[in-house]
Amino acid sequence: MKIAIVGTGYVGLVSGACFAEMGTDVTCVDIDKAKIESLRQGIIPIYEPGLDELVRRNVRDGRLHFTTSLEEVINDVEAVFSAVGTPPDDDGSADLTAVKAVARTFGRHIDRQAILVTKSTVPVGTSEIIRGIINEELDRRGVNVDFELASNPEFLKEGAAIKDFMSPDRVVIGVDGPRSREVMERLYRPFLLQNFRVMFMDIPSAEMAKYAANAMLATRISFINDIANLCELTGADVSQVRRAIGADTRIGNKFLYPGCGYGGSCFPKDVQALIRTGEQLGYPMRVIQAVEAVNDEQKHIPFRKLRKALGRLEGRRIALWGLAFKPETDDMRLAPSLTLIEDLLGDGATVCVFDPVAMDECRRRLSDKVDYATDMYAACIDADALCVLTEWKQFRLPSWPAVARLMNGETVIDGRNIYSPDDLAAAGLKVHAIGRP
Ligand code: UDX
Repeated sequence: MKIAIVGTGYVGLVSGACFAEMGTDVTCVDIDKAKIESLRQGIIPIYEPGLDELVRRNVRDGRLHFTTSLEEVINDVEAVFSAVGTPPDDDGSADLTAVKAVARTFGRHIDRQAILVTKSTVPVGTSEIIRGIINEELDRRGVNVDFELASNPEFLKEGAAIKDFMSPDRVVIGVDGPRSREVMERLYRPFLLQNFRVMFMDIPSAEMAKYAANAMLATRISFINDIANLCELTGADVSQVRRAIGADTRIGNKFLYPGCGYGGSCFPKDVQALIRTGEQLGYPMRVIQAVEAVNDEQKHIPFRKLRKALGRLEGRRIALWGLAFKPETDDMRLAPSLTLIEDLLGDGATVCVFDPVAMDECRRRLSDKVDYATDMYAACIDADALCVLTEWKQFRLPSWPAVARLMNGETVIDGRNIYSPDDLAAAGLKVHAIGRP
């Protein structure tokens, strides 16, 4: 089976490499010439554990190809996947420019029966826009080609993308006819044979499922953050509360970790897009609006805690461990670290940062606005306080006596609740966690 995947971002590249690994012949397409050239040489533009090896192996074995021209391969494949970006517009709704461009190219060049599968996260109803564009192009050419659409939203998490793709909780596939169903069934046969749940449904439901899933997960995070903040005011410990409520099988214990708010490319963007869809259809999504508001506030919590512990921060030096929005990625999009750095600089503090993989990304974004440490301990030299915002494994069990010796103060903000206050107290440090006394 042969497919093409347009867009070599996170979703496109991971899906392409994984489908190839499962035996499908995959051509990944991107308009970025430099990116395609490096990919051909096995240079991966993103940090994702295991991805470079997977790409190199499948390129070597001849199952994974890269090109800048969809036209070249379009009539040689059974399905074209659209995995291009849908970044937020100025008003937060998903920008469909790239999705529409793929539909246009598809309509302009298909000469034989084909299906166009949308993997990008797109608002409900987008498939009808895509269908309109393709028909317009076919009419313009005066040809009649039988095409069908499918929607196959991706639920993978950064940092665990390959595992998520290869062992999914479920695969959601929206189809609009027997041919698209047949093609998608064949493509996902290896998953069906392994008994992973592959669910077929109509396209609008598949499109909505992606947003509803991310909104539900974001809701759990904002909910537990809200509870955590109230715990602080009442003397309760959110870690105990989380254990207690998570033991109810209806609630479950996953995705209930309080912190400094969710970041990344998906939750903030999808939550906003869902709010906009609701507004456009005259149905305000009140729960989701609150989820977003709580999250925006939560990102300022580490700064507030620092202010409370140290007073004005002018002239103070703050060490920051963790820049990426979560471990195992260099992605800093809407990361809580960016909010904290902005708050700190605004108050006149200097910031010395360390992250195991996101240092280059940080330099690209902030250049010399902050100081860059060569390792986690070096970041602490002369610091009045240390803030930990990403739960990287290497941050979990530091030598606190070493940290205390290097620092100029005693305050540690544990933005992920990963430390035992007793361990820090033994080294003369004082920890301020989220939702814990
Ligand atoms: C998410 C979804 O999990 C995935 O299914 C979807 O396809 C894309 O969006 P991702 O953004 O890669 O994936 O990261 P995820 O691991 O879900 O974490 C998102 C954010 O939530 C992070 O900032 C993380 O720190 C935060 N989070 C997560 C919490 O604050 N508490 C939790 O309990 C879980």
